[in-house]
Amino acid sequence: VIDIGKLYAQGDVFTFDPGFTSTASCASTITFIDGEKGELLHRGYPIDQLAEKSHFLEVCYLLLYGELPTADQLEDFESRVTNHTMLHEQMTYFYRGFRRDAHPMAIMVGVVGAMSAFYHDSTDISDPWQREVASIRLIAKMPTIAAWAYKYHIGQPFVYPRNDLDYASNFLRMCFSVPAEEYEVNPILSRAMDRIFTLHADHEQNASTSTVRLASSSGANPFACIAAGIACLWGPAHGGANQACLEMLREIGTPDRIPEYIEKAKDKNDPFRLMGFGHRVYKNFDPRAKVMKQSADEVLDLLGVENNPTLQTAKELERIALEDPYFKDKKLYPNVDFYSGIILDAMGFPTSMFTPIFALARTVGWISQWKEQLSDPAHKIGRPRQLYTGATFRDYVDVENR
Ligand code: ACO
Repeated sequence: VIDIGKLYAQGDVFTFDPGFTSTASCASTITFIDGEKGELLHRGYPIDQLAEKSHFLEVCYLLLYGELPTADQLEDFESRVTNHTMLHEQMTYFYRGFRRDAHPMAIMVGVVGAMSAFYHDSTDISDPWQREVASIRLIAKMPTIAAWAYKYHIGQPFVYPRNDLDYASNFLRMCFSVPAEEYEVNPILSRAMDRIFTLHADHEQNASTSTVRLASSSGANPFACIAAGIACLWGPAHGGANQACLEMLREIGTPDRIPEYIEKAKDKNDPFRLMGFGHRVYKNFDPRAKVMKQSADEVLDLLGVENNPTLQTAKELERIALEDPYFKDKKLYPNVDFYSGIILDAMGFPTSMFTPIFALARTVGWISQWKEQLSDPAHKIGRPRQLYTGATFRDYVDVENR
């Protein structure tokens, strides 16, 4: 009898699974996805019910602590988050060190990583209380961090958080208020923003979450781990897809040019892919995309942009791609980023802010996964193996003999 477990432990056998398409890196109780059915559950609750009946901070509580809060627990949690929205004033100088034209994601990676220098009283991961404080600090401060990255990027003064506002409204105000004119938060836009946060809150072991877990496996502090997640999320195959998708829709410009782009996406000699289509896990409609589509309609109705050419292009692209045998056979459906970009664009966000908003929302997922990992007594440093395909042993040759 061959004991495979023992062989693995000795390092005598290993699986070769590029992109980890069939390797589970951990056991988790947080999020369940059935890609074939197009189902996404957080702690057992379906995402469409949460998006419709709950709100982001309640979903944060659910992800972090495993159960929906009672009214008292929710009030206490919301007040703890609200009391941590301010950034250390010294951090304004840190922002000022960046070039004005820096991408807000570049600023986010730097500022969140630097939180370990500003909040080193919550970096001891062996202390459960410090872990809790770090979690609340990150969730509370991310809207301020993202809004300030935006304000700095566009050359406007920072707007400080107003704690009488809800989480989404506070973020919108910090992004769009200017000294001469207080921004009135429209409840429909605030609700749409909250939904975008809710729909992006967690998505089990995606690339950025796996990055956070891998960084954390070495015992790195929470701010460093989340900064690593933000850096990974930035890529266009992951969180950067919402920016890339809107840029693609604008490049297509009008519905009559769609067939040209569809053919490009199908051409195996062309690296172009339809941004906002396809998903590693969903081989059916992304359940988040359904809710996001509904939100897009609500926001566009409110803002009266029924003749929005980007939306028309998006709707037509969706229709054509869903009927095309290539996309059907490969089960490539619109993903959440296909619609989120349209909503954010209509709200007035530049494309460079799309991925920072995703990072803001995903922070709670990263932290929940990080906490779960640390509380698992069996967790150990992540150390994948490799299949070596390089040169075999050879003797060093002095430079004059090469
Ligand atoms: N356009 C055209 N063809 C595509 C697309 C697309 N968007 N996505 C996948 N394909 C094709 C591939 O060319 C491949 O074809 P082949 O089998 O003939 O070689 C097949 O579908 C499978 O694609 P893979 O790359 O193997 O699938 P994978 O699971 O590795 O990739 C990914 C998933 C990265 C999301 C991919 O679909 C993609 O690049 N999509 C566009 C970017 C995007 O929207 N990303 C957002 C993901 S969601 C999120 O991060 C929130």
